[in-house]
Amino acid sequence: FRPKVLAGRKVVLTAGPTFEAIDPVRGITNSSSGKMGYALARACRQAGAEVVLVSGPVALAAPLGVQRVGVHSALQMRAAVFDALPGADVFIGVAAVADYRPAQAAEHKIKKSGDVLQLSLTPNPDILAEVAALPQAPFCVGFAAESRDLDAYATGKRTAKRLPLLVGNLVQDGLGGDDNEVVLYDDNGRHALGRAAKGELAARIVDHLAALLERRGPS
Ligand code: PMT
Repeated sequence: FRPKVLAGRKVVLTAGPTFEAIDPVRGITNSSSGKMGYALARACRQAGAEVVLVSGPVALAAPLGVQRVGVHSALQMRAAVFDALPGADVFIGVAAVADYRPAQAAEHKIKKSGDVLQLSLTPNPDILAEVAALPQAPFCVGFAAESRDLDAYATGKRTAKRLPLLVGNLVQDGLGGDDNEVVLYDDNGRHALGRAAKGELAARIVDHLAALLERRGPS
């Protein structure tokens, strides 16, 4: 049993990778499993929130009581997030969104030839940055996955996107596995949560988030 610290709140989350099509059979993606995002969606639900989980392609079932919206590309993820956003108190970006997509996806399968093939990439919108910049923005929680210098990069991302809370992790700790090691960054500084199962960390992140929301007052 966990206290319903998010009762009456609506939470929208993103999770998993995005898949950016090159042609009808190929694409660019990454190795996010969705486990961290799904664990957080479950923890938010168990804390009493109404939860919409916008998920890239992963092999996980939706947690009980969570509304899951399946997407592939970053553009689809952005559209689904903005559809789900009305009435949201909290937005949590756990997804490993592709920063770039092929400038033009080929309509038909690209045929092999002996020639060098060049792929032109165009930047994707930053969903979290757009949500955080809304005039009536929900409480925004970002994630940062880094391979080194976690404190510096995570703090930089939190400041750049003006996020009240950012969860930092190293890719070698967090990507794909069942455990993770995370550090929370907020206006009061740095809070290391240590290494634990993603479900356990998700519950601790929700407790921290609920305390910050409580301090901020009713939305
Ligand atoms: O899925 P798992 O295997 O369990 O792995 C979990 C995880 C490592 C993917 C997760 O814990 C994590 O760190 N997710 C963020 C991944 C990341 O690299 O984020 P980023 O540094 O590219 O982006 C920073 C923030 O902006 C993130 O909240 C991201 O969701 C968001 N973003 C980024 C780019 C973009 N175009 N749109 C976004 O919303």
